Amino acid sequence: MTIAVTGASGQLGRLAVEALLRREAGPIVAIVRDPAKVTDLAARGVEVRRADYDDVASLDAALVGVRRLLLVSGSEPGKRIPQHTNVIRAAERAGVELLAYTSIPRATQTPMLLAAEHRGTEEVLAGSSVPYVLLRNGWYWENYLRGLAPALQAGVLYGASGDGRVAGAARADYAEAAAVVLSTDGHAGAVYELGGDERLTLTELAGVISAVSGTAVRYQDVSAADYAEALEKAGIPGGFAQILADSETGASNGWLDVTSGDLHTLNGRPSTPVADVFRAALAG
Ligand SMILES: NC(=O)c1ccc[n+]([C@@H]2O[C@H](COP(=O)([O-])OP(=O)(O)OC[C@H]3O[C@@H](n4cnc5c(N)ncnc54)[C@H](OP(=O)(O)O)[C@@H]3O)[C@@H](O)[C@H]2O)c1
Repeated sequence: MTIAVTGASGQLGRLAVEALLRREAGPIVAIVRDPAKVTDLAARGVEVRRADYDDVASLDAALVGVRRLLLVSGSEPGKRIPQHTNVIRAAERAGVELLAYTSIPRATQTPMLLAAEHRGTEEVLAGSSVPYVLLRNGWYWENYLRGLAPALQAGVLYGASGDGRVAGAARADYAEAAAVVLSTDGHAGAVYELGGDERLTLTELAGVISAVSGTAVRYQDVSAADYAEALEKAGIPGGFAQILADSETGASNGWLDVTSGDLHTLNGRPSTPVADVFRAALAG
């Protein structure tokens, strides 16, 4: 049974392919825009096919013979609903028997700006004929690595998440759950709310960073507007800065707190400790 992963040149997709290889899940197809990025996967027996979410013909060709598909959500905000729709329609034509889509926690209810395209994609899936499963991935702990160097330098971790808890997990944890869902039976129609076992406030996260790095770092909560402004000053484009600030607001209101236990259940183990994620990053 052939299993394909889109976005296999990206961080999550690559980890999902590696998890499928570890599970000896059968023939694996890596769907990428640029095969040069995954020559190592090809060397490990993964079939590499080129496709772009914007190019319907390329998707039809890439999905020939694919029975199960991980659709990794795209990385171009504003374009993702039509792009994902192209993949879903191609999956219908190819007779894909299970499509797993990487969504966001409580996609149908959350007010987070990031959720709009996930919600739209879930609606397209609901109206499609392809059997599907929703992997509503929570926050990656790796999202906080972007701010690690400045936090260590200043001794301050800035955020706008208040006392909101974030049930983060490592990308590899979400990738493994995707591999489990693709390589075992009984997941069609399921909605998995995926979050890690550690549910931390950013004050607690600053404590973890302090302990792991040996540098005292405290959390400083600021308004979402000030947070967005600081990100822009640090060179992050305005639109993206607004989305990140809005995500902080979402976290402060509990929208990134996931308590379902679904990630633990699928993986059969606790999520990777956040300290390990930061320790690995600090080790280079
Ligand atoms: N849960 C979270 O905390 C979180 C955080 C960030 C993002 N996300 C979402 O989760 C997804 C996976 O995360 P990630 O860290 O793996 O992101 P990533 O490293 O940026 O990977 C995105 C992947 O999507 C591919 N892609 C983008 N546009 C495409 C297109 N038009 N056609 C075909 N492939 C396309 C990219 O291909 P190229 O290599 O060719 O660019 C790449 O392989 C992201 O795309 C985003 O939707 C979630």
